[in-house]
Amino acid sequence: MTPLLIVVIVILLAYKFYKFTYHKPPNSPPSIPRVPISGSYLMLLLGSYSFPYKTIGYYAKKLKTNIIGCYFGDFWAVAASDYASIKEILTRDDFDGRISEVEVVKARAFGKKLGILFTEGEFWREQRRFFLRNIRDFGFGRRQETIERDILSEISLLIDIMKNRPVYDEEKEIIKDNLVLFPDILYPTICSSFWNVLFGCKFDRSEHDIPRHICRMSMLFQRSLDATGGAIFHLPILRFFGNMFGFKNMIKANYAVADIIQEYLKLQNATLDENVDRGFIDRYLNVLNKDEKSQSFSEKQLIITATDMVIATCSTNPTVIANVLKYLIKYPRVLKKVQDEIDQVVGTGRLVTWNDRKNLPYTEAMIREVMRISSSLPLSVIHRAVKDTTLGGYAIPANTAVITNLAAMHRDPNLWGDPENFRPERFINEKGELTKDMSLPFGFGHRVCPGETYSRYNVFGVLAALLQTFNFFQVEGEPSKPEDELPGLLITPKEFWVRYELR
Ligand SMILES: *[C@@H]1O[C@H](CO)[C@@H](O)[C@H](O)[C@H]1NC(C)=O
Repeated sequence: MTPLLIVVIVILLAYKFYKFTYHKPPNSPPSIPRVPISGSYLMLLLGSYSFPYKTIGYYAKKLKTNIIGCYFGDFWAVAASDYASIKEILTRDDFDGRISEVEVVKARAFGKKLGILFTEGEFWREQRRFFLRNIRDFGFGRRQETIERDILSEISLLIDIMKNRPVYDEEKEIIKDNLVLFPDILYPTICSSFWNVLFGCKFDRSEHDIPRHICRMSMLFQRSLDATGGAIFHLPILRFFGNMFGFKNMIKANYAVADIIQEYLKLQNATLDENVDRGFIDRYLNVLNKDEKSQSFSEKQLIITATDMVIATCSTNPTVIANVLKYLIKYPRVLKKVQDEIDQVVGTGRLVTWNDRKNLPYTEAMIREVMRISSSLPLSVIHRAVKDTTLGGYAIPANTAVITNLAAMHRDPNLWGDPENFRPERFINEKGELTKDMSLPFGFGHRVCPGETYSRYNVFGVLAALLQTFNFFQVEGEPSKPEDELPGLLITPKEFWVRYELR
């Protein structure tokens, strides 16, 4: 009897395991197998340990599907990799949600659901509306003269520091002889300009170690996760393993930024004057100090909103600029063409301004092409289906995590023809005008990055000034190739030295 029983049990277990591995909701897309506890994350890691997001694209190709399913821990998720489905996800209300119930997401917001990036529903709508309506007056999504002038003055300070040598000790660590360290050299410029939008003040050159610290912490935050959320996202229990799976670094980086914001908030509140409109923070504090206000407004909500925005700006902008530099060092022909365009349109006597941008289509196309080919935010930020719905003919149950696989879309031959080639010309038509940007690096729709206009200009302005003034050359042995990247939620460049000289 006993051997037979064992055989029966083994068969039953094998059947159960098989059912589990290949289980998925009814009428769902082809999917990546899963194992108990980790879901499909183990498969993703087996496919690419440092860049697990790449495995999703690999399976989608193998199974010949634009929409693929997998399990993130217990979470059923679907990922789309073609332009039409991605656009649909970003446009339809059904997919407006966020995965906000996960411990890791709350841990960065005092254990609550706060901010704009990871909240949903009426709370999100109200806070987002207030944010957009007010930050618009400080150069976000709409042009604002004072902010533009302030950004330009930060850019000229950067050029001045590089031209006229370092003065402060920390500067001497990132500029040596004719060498400069990227992306670190950019940190004060990027952080100060955004600080100005929030607080209406910038960091003096003598206190640049503060913005450098903020940016380094923002980079650390991104690098402590991975594009799929990271192990602590798939398996929340792993957050108790200290830094083994990045949790400690994520928390350290997040609250390092939040603490500085809180400190400045106190100063700001102490000097608040209803008749002086310094920046977005003043607008919010004025609401907080009123007796009658909606429940969604709180000091903690302001801190987390600002923290999310600072971390996003201070990691993405330096990443894009450093990536552009890497590609231009690799493709001197493109660098020459950009510099020729700037020389012709602007010359050398003045900085490139916002107004010049429309007359510099090749420079803009080159930046877009770098953002496309490097796919720094490979899976964008994950959405959630708020109700039972469908996508591409497949059923999507409520609560499904919905992923826009930008990295795969950026490499889709149906969309780009020759996605492997670095070719800025693909964004320019026969008349020499910019074409529609199909690469959606800032997303689209209700969840589009509110910093899109601001960042596109800021990145453009900094790069145009750098390329107008200097030539850049590779330093032997430095990790300055496009593929020298560090994994993370955002894929960031490794720090690298380049040699530079005045043109
Ligand atoms: C700002 O200052 C007011 C008045 O001094 C105080 O009541 C309020 O709690 C402060 N708010 C914050 C966010 O610090």
